[in-house]
Amino acid sequence: MFRDIEKDIQQYYADRANEYELTYERPERQTDLKTIRILLKNLLNEHHVLEIACGTGYWTKIISSVAKSITATDINNEVLKIAKNKLIKLKKVTFIQDDSYSLKKIRGNFTAGFAFSWWSHILISKLNDFINVFHSRLQPGALVIFIDNFHIAGSSIPICRIDNDGNTYQIRKLQDGREYEILKNFPTRQTFEEILGKRVKNLKIEFLTYFWIITYNVLL
Ligand SMILES: C[S@@+](CC[C@H](N)C(=O)[O-])C[C@H]1O[C@@H](n2cnc3c(N)ncnc32)[C@H](O)[C@@H]1O
Repeated sequence: MFRDIEKDIQQYYADRANEYELTYERPERQTDLKTIRILLKNLLNEHHVLEIACGTGYWTKIISSVAKSITATDINNEVLKIAKNKLIKLKKVTFIQDDSYSLKKIRGNFTAGFAFSWWSHILISKLNDFINVFHSRLQPGALVIFIDNFHIAGSSIPICRIDNDGNTYQIRKLQDGREYEILKNFPTRQTFEEILGKRVKNLKIEFLTYFWIITYNVLL
């Protein structure tokens, strides 16, 4: 039976909205998360940020302490509702329901683009088109930050399937027992260089213990 991999991801995160932030309580990841919080506050200081797939606004809240403005988007209203409640009083943060693959509702002079735990959910065949759309919503020279996690045996959910294009999948379980097969890719340095190489400058790839971080500027 034909399955829509992107719709499955969307539904899974809608259903997971109320338990999503438990992921940030995992003890073994605390050192990395602290490093990332500090890094984001340094890098996004005074920026006009477009954040995509913002989820429940965990990172939106952190960067709101330093950014000049944030437009944060996600496809799911279930997560946006939680994010909005967190930042209800902050006028510099705007939430917009939108699809990261089209970003049709997004207008603005963004000096930075950011996404946490989004790259891994993009089909390899869609990476190029996604990057083109994302860059088209940012100012020339804008800073871009993507952060996501590695597959670490013992900490990560095992990979249950690899498709013909090399996309990898995991079985995710919610607290009530519902199960979903979810696309979750683990890119390498080579993937970043191939996808981004010619269209960005200052590409930096940093590996923490559980997370990878890439930063670069969109070519002028
Ligand atoms: C792994 S979560 C990351 C949430 C948040 N960035 C964080 O790190 O806490 C992935 C997010 O992508 C959102 N999402 C799924 N498909 C999407 C799409 N096509 N466009 C925009 N957001 C999407 C989900 O609703 C979910 O909030």
